[in-house]
Amino acid sequence: MTTSNRRYHVTTFGCQMNKADSERMAGILENMGFQFSEDPNNANVVLYNTCTIRDNAEQKVYSYLGRQAKRKHSQPDLTLIVAGCVAQQEGEALLRRVPELDLVMGPQHANRLEDLLEDVFAGNQVVATEPIHIIEDITKPRRDSKITAWVNVIYGCNERCTYCVVPNVRGIEQSRKPEAIRAEMEELGRQGYKEVTLLGQNIDAYGRDLPGTKPGGRHLHNFTDLLYYVHNVPGIDRIRFATSHPRYFTERLIAACAELPKVCEHFHIPFQSGDNELLKAMARGYTHEKYRRIIETIRRYMPDASISADAIVGFPGETEEQFENTLRLVEDIGFDMLNTAAYSPRPGTPAALWENQVSEEVKSDRLQRLNHLVSIKAAERSMRYFDRVEEVLVEGQNPKKPAQVMGRTRGNRLTFFNGDISEKGEVVRVKITEARAFSLTGERV
Ligand code: SAH
Ligand code: SF4
Ligand code: F3S
Repeated sequence: MTTSNRRYHVTTFGCQMNKADSERMAGILENMGFQFSEDPNNANVVLYNTCTIRDNAEQKVYSYLGRQAKRKHSQPDLTLIVAGCVAQQEGEALLRRVPELDLVMGPQHANRLEDLLEDVFAGNQVVATEPIHIIEDITKPRRDSKITAWVNVIYGCNERCTYCVVPNVRGIEQSRKPEAIRAEMEELGRQGYKEVTLLGQNIDAYGRDLPGTKPGGRHLHNFTDLLYYVHNVPGIDRIRFATSHPRYFTERLIAACAELPKVCEHFHIPFQSGDNELLKAMARGYTHEKYRRIIETIRRYMPDASISADAIVGFPGETEEQFENTLRLVEDIGFDMLNTAAYSPRPGTPAALWENQVSEEVKSDRLQRLNHLVSIKAAERSMRYFDRVEEVLVEGQNPKKPAQVMGRTRGNRLTFFNGDISEKGEVVRVKITEARAFSLTGERV
């Protein structure tokens, strides 16, 4: 089929992993000759890359999908694709629910989009959800930014947290080869990118599935070694990584982050709960004491490091006292940022079947109380930047105040200052004159 003048649209829900997958799928579509359309109603191919981490994320997808399914009745040549985690979770069932769909593809199939679409254009309705070995993408991703880029390091998750769908929808851990990761970063450096965020559900579990052992039987590859291996890629000034799991966060990794100048002092390490019994019921594999020790060690090496995390309130059986242990942890540690969520029972996860569910009223009350504490603590943490000079990598214009540009500090605080968009991609020294809970304003020095 000819693809000239044909347009595609991609909407992405969910986490950074999905954003990275979308950029690769958009790259494949452009390579096939499609042009990007901001408006889905103007596109011949509409792709929703979906998230199912909580029920409300999943429901959002169905409402978007409903509108396009309707449009297909008057425009039968519209190609409708559901990719990502809802696609993997629902599979064939999605076709029964939305028969207008042409393609349902799980996250492991993202790089196969061209092959799958050829099947569709040949007249088939296609479901691709079987577990596969993820192939390297040979086309170029269409990246949203020209300055910062995602680079996948490890796909999937081998944990079994009792609330979580991710292992069901993303499959088992698959680490990319260090050479492939470095090659992608070198290409980014050549293209003028300045910052790379290395991605994985549990990035610090990197390498366990790759072949080879060290003398003594340890895995040949691990995340700390990977950081040493990629840190001198020319052109890349900053390296970040997410998400870290407390079980795999070693002192050796912390020491490497302190030693390697390009690795930014920002750590995203979800704790989920501050209560040991709940952590056990969640099957997280650590205690709050262990979590606190990790943060202490980070601060011993890098006193100014910024720390962010995820937490869940209202997990089945959570008592008021146990919830207060989460508040206490947040109070004690003082996070720079915390993603909070009310527990949402998910299909195919053990905790969804337990009888000790917490009521929606209690969940939303706890969520509000936690969020209130988080913004107080984040504002306190932000104050340490006041009057200080920070390095800001300029990423673009402030859409609300065009005289300002915006970028991030090494600690990942969004920062605005009066400047020129031609400074995009430069690291500018900025003196902070205003500190809000989650962003800063300053002046160049
Ligand atoms: N791999 C990461 C987190 C990935 S999922 C880790 O283990 O830390 C992102 C976040 O979604 C989780 O950290 C958790 O806080 C939240 N989450 C996952 N399942 C959830 C559920 N059923 N209800 C509410 N929040 C959930
Ligand atoms: Fe989900 Fe746990 Fe895996 Fe994180 S580690 S993705 S919370 S199962
Ligand atoms: Fe959502 Fe899938 Fe990410 S469920 S949070 S898009 S791994």
